[in-house]
Amino acid sequence: MRKVIIAGNWKMNKTASEGRALVEALKPLVAEVGPECAEIVVCPPFTTLSAVVEAARGSNIKVGAQNLHWAESGAFTGEISAAMLREAGVEYVILGHSERRQYFGETDATVNARLKAALKAGFKVMVCIGETLEEREGNRTEEVLARQLDGGLADLDAVTVSGLVLAYEPVWAIGTGKTATPEMAEATHRFIRSHLAARFGKEAAEQVRIQYGGSMKPENAGELVAQPDIDGGLIGGAALKADSFATLIKNAIAGSRKK
Ligand code: 13P
Repeated sequence: MRKVIIAGNWKMNKTASEGRALVEALKPLVAEVGPECAEIVVCPPFTTLSAVVEAARGSNIKVGAQNLHWAESGAFTGEISAAMLREAGVEYVILGHSERRQYFGETDATVNARLKAALKAGFKVMVCIGETLEEREGNRTEEVLARQLDGGLADLDAVTVSGLVLAYEPVWAIGTGKTATPEMAEATHRFIRSHLAARFGKEAAEQVRIQYGGSMKPENAGELVAQPDIDGGLIGGAALKADSFATLIKNAIAGSRKK
């Protein structure tokens, strides 16, 4: 059984004080979610990380960053290193989000370089992949995902891959209110797992956790996570309020029990 992982990607939202308040409000609402049940992660912007790490200390809420640079240090204006994130108390990182790919020139090669640096430094990584509307309508979803997987995970071995979390986020579903139907999302997750099996072997593919992301809300989280190959969610908008995020987490756990 793969453990459910629900992560909130706060994107460019929440100052340090707002982030602290959100975590303080979330803690009692998810206090009874045991570590055997689900992993809960919040991923604030860089300047909010330390406040959130402090607020989450001793609770079942883990903290992730939204990016990580491949170099140890140097002339990379606007970037953040593994050592900086480690010292801030971060455990997880999101890499290759479609907004990074769309607006900031992220490629499969840079995702791969970031991923290798993050793994070397011991972070747990959520690697994002997903097709645009144009690609889906052009029947190119599988080709695009295969290319993102092959490029993003290049040079990794099966054992390393088995410990990864992938986030399948169809770009057309992000922030649009359009969710992939559970059946549509499941079919794509199944394709991702079969592609991983062909590349890294069945055993590794069965262990990789694949989150769904894109307009996941309390109302649809249960149905999505009830699908056999959907192991959790990466949530934007619905993770910005404690009550909606807590309800979403509980519904996702209830959904996972129907598998
Ligand atoms: P929304 O949940 O706001 O659609 O965002 C999804 C996402 O991009 C999470 O990384």
